[in-house]
Amino acid sequence: MARVFSGMQPTGNLHLGNYLGALKRFIPLQEEAESFFCVVDLHALTVPRDPEDLRKKTVELAALYVAAGLDPEKATLFAQSHNPHHAEAGWLLQCVTRMGELSRMTQFKDKSQGSDSVTAGLFTYPALMAGDILLYQADEVPVGEDQKQHLELARDLAERFNRQYGETFTIPEPRIGETGARIMGLDNPEKKMSKSAASEANFIGLLEDEKSIVKKFKRAVTDSENDIRYDPEKKPGVSNLLSIMSVITGKPVQTLTEEYQGKGYGHLKVDTAEVVIQELKPIQERFRELTQTGEIEEVLAKGAEKARAASEKTMARMKEVMGLIPGR
Ligand code: TYM
Repeated sequence: MARVFSGMQPTGNLHLGNYLGALKRFIPLQEEAESFFCVVDLHALTVPRDPEDLRKKTVELAALYVAAGLDPEKATLFAQSHNPHHAEAGWLLQCVTRMGELSRMTQFKDKSQGSDSVTAGLFTYPALMAGDILLYQADEVPVGEDQKQHLELARDLAERFNRQYGETFTIPEPRIGETGARIMGLDNPEKKMSKSAASEANFIGLLEDEKSIVKKFKRAVTDSENDIRYDPEKKPGVSNLLSIMSVITGKPVQTLTEEYQGKGYGHLKVDTAEVVIQELKPIQERFRELTQTGEIEEVLAKGAEKARAASEKTMARMKEVMGLIPGR
């Protein structure tokens, strides 16, 4: 059976981009593969965080995993810091990663730009991410488009490690959706929807209420024409709405374009808002129930045990082939 691994950071507001590009796509995979979905709390530490808020967001993200449809009986759901192999493997992989490779990461360039307090962790972040994936011998990694470069580095590191120390890792394949892998900001469809966007008008939070969702879609930036066409270059705003609608309804963009022939942008915006509201409603209800019961901590505890057991062999192999003597 194929193995799947993916992770999300417990930071900011989880938004529609995270959901459509990643989380929603995790759900069917739990049926067909042995899957591991991680709340990457160690990655969250690469920029300063309020400790109390990080704890809260970690449990909330795990609750969102379950609320969105991940079943802890089928998939392993856990917090990265609960399996110490991640930090260990992250270090060992840093020792096969080159500075030049890390310097070329666009996410590092974007996140460090204009900041005078960039941490070493932000720089070495992709080595930790590679460790996350390789520890589980994952065959596939479902992610949004913005993680593609990190995934390529993980593959390069796995290949280099295998060459240098002997066959150790499966080479993981990125699994990036055809539609929805890059949901754009509603206030600026030239840039991806982002947790760290300056304006709230940029994103739809997964826990956002109906009124606010309608308002943001109505104000979504489009263009000065009036025909509904899918053309991400020339019509990024309209194309973004069509992508969102397509991923949720399962209708191809082409079909939607035909359905909206002759209709105005206003119509498309209101309908997209409605589709999003209906998609998020059951998730929000389930989320509220879950966060009241304390059962998520239980889910994470069981998940951590399964994760540790699953990564143990690879961890031991990494240490051995690199020349570390076994402890007693
Ligand atoms: P993170 O937490 O930034 O994002 C979580 C997932 O959401 C996807 N995503 C998007 N998809 C479509 N449109 C968008 N606008 C959008 N914004 C974000 C991301 O591609 C991602 O799949 N480094 C990772 C977390 C990570 C990880 C891993 C992922 C750590 N270890 C191992 C996979 C495997 C990150 O920061 O994702």
